[in-house]
Amino acid sequence: MISVTPLSGKPIPRIGLGTFGSDKYGPPQVADAVRGAIEVGYRHFDCAAVYGNEREVGAALRESGLAREDYWVTGKVWNNRHHEVVAACEDSLRDLGLDYLDLFLIHWPFPNHHASGVAVDSRDPHAVPYIHENFLRTWASMRKLVDRGLVRYTGTSNMTVRKLQLLLRDAEVQPAANEMELHPHFQQRELFEFVTANGILPIGYSPLGSPSRPERDRTSDDTSDLDDPVIVEIARAHNIHPADVCIKWAVTRGQIPIPFSVKRSQYESSLRAATSEPLTPAEMDQIAKIDRNCRLIKGQVFLWPGAADWRDLWDEQPV
Ligand SMILES: NC(=O)c1ccc[n+]([C@@H]2O[C@H](COP(=O)([O-])OP(=O)(O)OC[C@H]3O[C@@H](n4cnc5c(N)ncnc54)[C@H](OP(=O)(O)O)[C@@H]3O)[C@@H](O)[C@H]2O)c1
Repeated sequence: MISVTPLSGKPIPRIGLGTFGSDKYGPPQVADAVRGAIEVGYRHFDCAAVYGNEREVGAALRESGLAREDYWVTGKVWNNRHHEVVAACEDSLRDLGLDYLDLFLIHWPFPNHHASGVAVDSRDPHAVPYIHENFLRTWASMRKLVDRGLVRYTGTSNMTVRKLQLLLRDAEVQPAANEMELHPHFQQRELFEFVTANGILPIGYSPLGSPSRPERDRTSDDTSDLDDPVIVEIARAHNIHPADVCIKWAVTRGQIPIPFSVKRSQYESSLRAATSEPLTPAEMDQIAKIDRNCRLIKGQVFLWPGAADWRDLWDEQPV
């Protein structure tokens, strides 16, 4: 097992800008956000083919005049291309107009596909559960990207402890990073500790609790990190926005948050939060106690025929 730490060589910046505009923000707006984010100092961008904006985001990156080695770009292979990761990566590189990606992830550990924007009860009739042999094959072909110089590091996303244990047991090379949902109301302590104990870098998506996610991604049980009294009180004490507390919590904990915003005041504020003083141990203890195990991105559309509910995707028991 080769252990890769992405902190050797060119380091990964401790905060990145998300680029998933979802239903709310089209490619030109996301590209403008990338331009503005570069101006205020972002050097890390979380991209994916399925976000449908790699051309526009790539143009913004290239027009910035930044040397390629001065910024970090993550890409992801979408579920319908697990069998052709090299072609998928080449397509992303072409769309982005880049020679290489710093990190390339398997977006989800299932090959189950859906068209963008479908309702949560929409299902791929060909959907299957996690099949370890197939995933291993996809993971092994990711290595070709590194060998060909198209990608510096490879990683996973939306994994569980159980799936990562299998991967670490059977793969020749371990993931450099795992991208996972992480915010104060969804701290994923067991997975976070497993990942860090194994030298895998945790990248935290939806770090603010994804307050702008579409209606179809909301359920009545969801809670709001930004309205949590503990977060609000720490924000008041520091004279910052609750979103900045979530970013500080992430960075102080040792994960890399990738907040999304198209508003300069917001992404500038997140960058400042990530690069200024961390939270105190007492504040971290307070936030450790407000975990609600509130998964927001449940992934229902990836369910296979016969699955009980979305918890099956995460190796949990249905309630
Ligand atoms: N690997 C995966 O499967 C996966 C899944 C989901 C997301 N991601 C990545 O993670 C990124 C972020 O996730 P996300 O967009 O779901 O969640 P998020 O970053 O937690 O929430 C983004 C929203 O928060 C608001 N916001 C941003 N900065 C703020 C600030 N400083 N103060 C107040 N509000 C602020 C904005 O709302 P308004 O628009 O209302 O201003 C923005 O649209 C995505 O863009 C994507 O790159 C990856």
